[in-house]
Amino acid sequence: MIKPFEKPIYVTRPFLPPLEKFCQGLQEIWETRWLTNNGPILQRFTQELCNFFETDNVCLFNNGTLALQIALQGMGISGEVITTPYTFVATTHALFWNKIRPVFVDIEPEYYTLDPEKVEAAITPWTTAILAVHVYGYPCKLNALADIARRHNLKLIYDAAHAFGVKVGIKSIAHFGDLGMFSFHATKLFHSLEGGMLIFQEAGLKGIFDYLKNFGFKNEVEVVMPGTNAKMNEMQALMGIQVLKYLEEIIHKRAMITNLYRQHLKEVPGIRLVPSLSPDIRYNHAYMPIEVDEQEFGMSRDTLYEKLKEYNVYTRRYFHPLVCDYACYRNVSVNDPLTVARRVADCILTLPIYDGLELSDVEAICEIIQHLQHETLREPIVNFATSRE
Ligand SMILES: Cc1ncc(COP(=O)(O)O)c(C=O)c1O
Repeated sequence: MIKPFEKPIYVTRPFLPPLEKFCQGLQEIWETRWLTNNGPILQRFTQELCNFFETDNVCLFNNGTLALQIALQGMGISGEVITTPYTFVATTHALFWNKIRPVFVDIEPEYYTLDPEKVEAAITPWTTAILAVHVYGYPCKLNALADIARRHNLKLIYDAAHAFGVKVGIKSIAHFGDLGMFSFHATKLFHSLEGGMLIFQEAGLKGIFDYLKNFGFKNEVEVVMPGTNAKMNEMQALMGIQVLKYLEEIIHKRAMITNLYRQHLKEVPGIRLVPSLSPDIRYNHAYMPIEVDEQEFGMSRDTLYEKLKEYNVYTRRYFHPLVCDYACYRNVSVNDPLTVARRVADCILTLPIYDGLELSDVEAICEIIQHLQHETLREPIVNFATSRE
């Protein structure tokens, strides 16, 4: 008999820097009383990120959703945008807020990112951009998407909310496409409490994004465009600066967790893991998705999800349902049958992964999963004839 965890194990838990260090930073804020509006800590954080990504084309926001909305608006994207239904709703909401029609196409089955062939087939005279997602931090089919975008003169925008710290060769994932949006939400491996960042190729966009996130103010008396309020504040920037110092440590610990899960789960019948990533990809271990094959595993994904709760293990069914199945998008016509996305959304489960998760806890979670499977397989098969007697 395996005992449940004494305390709940959630799918993620935010990293926190040492409290004394954060308090030292707060002291500076208390002294300056500069809480928001492009304060000194935000300026420092921006500079650190410019150094980190080796570009000046960085703009920070109070969250990733507004960053993406502003990106689309500032780049003048309109008409139709080809995108994935296998993502967090904010990807599509950013299109909606810009009155852009989302054209949902299917994902590829290995890493769940947009299928380039489906993208190409969905292009119409109204298509202006591709909005792809590095879902779970797995890089999209970068070359194929870039090639399509170039041939059809489309903007290529990446929702890289999950992909902070990912590299392809020596190049950060931020430098692919025309623009990438990163979320610094507390649930992400790198965070600033809440926050968002745009990194882009065209330097001229910076001024536009800066106006749009600050009501369109050029100076005290001139408003040059109808902007919104999407500024990052000093507390967020302080957290960001402090968490950034630990990025390598955080990714290293997560990598150990991924390896351990893979080692324990690779031979469990009915559990599918994503294939090993190509060696030139430096993954950030943002998520730990598994597919549960009901027939082979002996239990559906939803039953496993519920049973794990009985052991105090709280997994998530990211990304189920598909965005196009939410009530607010049901009237968007979808021509692609979304065969892969539908299958994956029905069997995916993301397991707990965060830097503070003990390796012994990872082993225990794997043991519980195997135990649940054995228990199910041992359950007597009810013989219909005898059960009626
Ligand atoms: C894929 C994706 N896009 C966009 C967002 C929105 O980011 P934020 O929560 O920072 O607004 C998230 C979520 O957290 C996300 O997972």
